Formats: sequence, structure tokens, C-alpha cells
Amino acid sequence: HDDGWTEQEKRIVAAAADWARTKLEKDSSGHDWWHIDRVVRMTRTIARAEQADSFVCEMAALLHDMADEKLNADPLAAAQQLEQWLQNSGASVEQVEHILEIIGTMSFKGGSRPPMRTAEGRVVQDADRLDAIGAVGISRVFAYSGAKDRPIHDPDLPPRDQLTEQEYRNGRDTAINHFYEKLLKLRELMNTTTGRKLAEDRHRFMETYLKRFYSEWAGNS
Ligand code: ADP
Ligand code: NI
Repeated sequence: HDDGWTEQEKRIVAAAADWARTKLEKDSSGHDWWHIDRVVRMTRTIARAEQADSFVCEMAALLHDMADEKLNADPLAAAQQLEQWLQNSGASVEQVEHILEIIGTMSFKGGSRPPMRTAEGRVVQDADRLDAIGAVGISRVFAYSGAKDRPIHDPDLPPRDQLTEQEYRNGRDTAINHFYEKLLKLRELMNTTTGRKLAEDRHRFMETYLKRFYSEWAGNS
């Protein structure tokens, strides 16, 4: 993945990884260091296939959660710190601006955002979304829900497809709800051919998982 990086770029990536690891090592909100580590690996896979700039992709993947509001009491200050860190990193002005643009525009936050402007942005956003689905995604939902003291499932909530959006929003939040709220929608939002293919597979795995979940819940299997 570091083919073609200058010595300087290698040092910058190592420093970014150190910084991200130190900051996220203790997090349990689903933005822990291993989430970053997985997104970086997936980013390399997709970037290679999509022929995106591997340095910009790697940096955006490493730093994409550093200013997240779930992780920072003062997200604005965190965003400024991130900007300053990048400006002092030794990366070029173009690289810094590109990385900041990707991080600033890639989060899901309720859906209809404009599409990512660059190939690198599309790659990193796909890698981040892929980490929310499939086997790892399932683990993260339950970890997050547990951290928020939310139940696994509430069978007294009517099935998702029998509710309007408004009725649904007023319902109690459960881990299983989050599949319908977000995870099962991500497949449709993938940017790249590579990402879409991987998402397809992970999506099917979640559908299989949910089928079994309801069947076991009902005492049928
Ligand atoms: P990102 O910052 O990557 O866009 P989020 O911050 O929304 O994603 O979520 C991080 C992780 O926590 C994801 O795996 C997501 O599925 C999970 N998560 C977020 N919100 C909820 C929720 N209301 N219930 C259960 N899991 C959630
Ligand atoms: Ni993320």
C-alpha cells in the first residue's frame, strides 16, 4: 500500500497512525482504534482496485473520526486541532485540503448528503460504511447499544414495515431497530464497484442473521 510514497509521506502516515491510536485506544462508542485499523485496511483494498491516491486515502481513513462529535466534547475545537495537525504534518497544501474535505463530508448523518466529490472520498466513505455492516457491523451495533443501555430487541414494537417514519421515530430505540434505521440502507449508498460488491455480500449476511434472530426469538429454531 505504501508503493510510491515518499519517505516524508511514510513518516506523515506513521505519525497520523500514532496520533489516532493514542486518541482512540480507550473509546467504546464504536469509534475505537480497531475500527480505524479495519477502515484503513479496507481503504487500501478499495483504493487499489479503484486506482485512487493511496496517500490521501490512507490519511483520511486514519483521521476520519478524530473530530467526530461522539468522541469530542467540543467538536469544533477538535476540528481545528485536526486542521492544525495536518498543516504542520508536512503534507502539501493540496493534500491537506483534500484530506480535510473528505473527513468533513463523509459521515452518514441522516442520509441525503451530496455525493463525495473525489475518487479518494468515495473510497474512504465506502470503507467506513462497510465497517458498519456484515459480521463486524453486527458486533458494533450491539456494542454501541449496550454502551447506551439500550435493549437488544423489543418484540412489542410493531414490525418496521408497518410503521410510518414518524411513528417509528417515536418508538423505543433498540439494537435491532438500528438495522432498519441505517445498516440495511447502506448497500444502496455504496460509491464504488468494489465497495458495492463487498456490501452486497455483507448485506445478505445481515439478512440471514435477522431471519435466524427472529426465528430463535420465537422459539422456532
Ligand atoms: P459513523 O460515525 O461511522 O458514520 P456512527 O457514529 O453513526 O457511524 O456509528 C458508529 C457505530 O455505532 C456503527 O457501527 C453504528 O452502527 C453504531 N451505531 C450508531 N448509532 C447506533 C444506534 N442508535 N444503535 C445501535 N448502534 C448504533
Ligand atoms: Ni468511522
